[in-house]
Amino acid sequence: MTRIPHATSGEPNPLQLLTLDGLRRRTSMKWRTYPEDVLPLWVAEMDVPLAEPVLRAVTDALELGDTGYPAGTAYAEALAAFAGKRWDWDGLAVERTAIVPDVMLGVVEMLKLVTGYGDAVVVNSPVYPPFYHFVAHLDRRVVEAPLGADARIDLGVLEETFRQAVADGRRAAYLLCSPHNPTGTVHSAEELSAVAALAERYGVRVVADEIHAPLVVGGADFVPYLSVPGAERGLSLMSASKAWNLAGLKAALAIAGLGAAADLARMPEEVGHGPSHVGIIAHTAALRDGVAWLDALLAGLDTNRRLLADLLAEHLPGIRYRPGDATYLAWLDCRALGLGDDPADVFLHRGRVALNSGLPFGTGGAGHARLNLATSTEVITEAVRRMTAALH
Ligand SMILES: Cc1ncc(COP(=O)(O)O)c(C=O)c1O
Repeated sequence: MTRIPHATSGEPNPLQLLTLDGLRRRTSMKWRTYPEDVLPLWVAEMDVPLAEPVLRAVTDALELGDTGYPAGTAYAEALAAFAGKRWDWDGLAVERTAIVPDVMLGVVEMLKLVTGYGDAVVVNSPVYPPFYHFVAHLDRRVVEAPLGADARIDLGVLEETFRQAVADGRRAAYLLCSPHNPTGTVHSAEELSAVAALAERYGVRVVADEIHAPLVVGGADFVPYLSVPGAERGLSLMSASKAWNLAGLKAALAIAGLGAAADLARMPEEVGHGPSHVGIIAHTAALRDGVAWLDALLAGLDTNRRLLADLLAEHLPGIRYRPGDATYLAWLDCRALGLGDDPADVFLHRGRVALNSGLPFGTGGAGHARLNLATSTEVITEAVRRMTAALH
């Protein structure tokens, strides 16, 4: 598989282009949830300007008044081409895709297709908190199969969880987070093949949330779940939203394996009315023309990971941080600091720096905090300074 090259295009590091004063003018969740004196490194928004091809595509659409309803398959075609080049995956069939409003609503719709009321949805805790509440809101039962101590899928635990989930003859699904939020774990081809084999053995349907797929660095290879042998009955959700910071421009794609095409075809038509036409234009431009920008971002994130590891080693050696190979999120094990179950609360109130509490990430989240690295080196440095000050 292709290694992701580091920035060679002359594209500047997008993480170093904005000032804090400019960012504070933003009205999104990251910037408006806490008072102005709090440095926000929590929700997964990035401190970057839009990639130029995305800005151009959206601006052109607005100038044209091209703000009607979406049509066609350009988004799926752009993703298929990106997947072919980036991951050597030629199996993304445009006719087995559907546009959905965003990844989480797509997850909900996929789970509706393959499970019923009260059925189990297996997740690998600690994991992205909406996996819990979106699934609960759907009247499915979240069942945890915690990651191993190495932050990788524990196949023995997963098998036992699958066995119990279907023991009374019920249907069950496995909501796989690939790459994994918050640990940044990139699942290997072997692990994913083993997952597919287990899912087939127990009749568990796999729904893979692959939103962080373009955000893999560090020599790891992203393996699309649907590309592994035995995964034909799987469903995947992909989007340009995380990697190009487009959460406010709503769109995502649901993708069915060969054996899940009939399930995806049952998705109600109205779900496809949710995504924004301008969002689809933005996502399509990102995948088609935003690769040099993405590579510059990944190089910047690599720098930030190393910077954070160095700063923590120097100033907060009690925090255990194992940089993952993907996402822009750092999962900090703060248990040795003796700050209790919710160190993020201490950093917020005593240090005026906002991280995500580990608690909503489920089992394995207590004593942890999640830090968003998609910012400048200056902000990361200041965040660690504040975290350090909070302990004194
Ligand atoms: C694993 C994961 N899935 C889904 C989402 C949300 O995606 P969307 O805004 O497309 O629903 C996020 C956002 O951070 C995420 O980390």
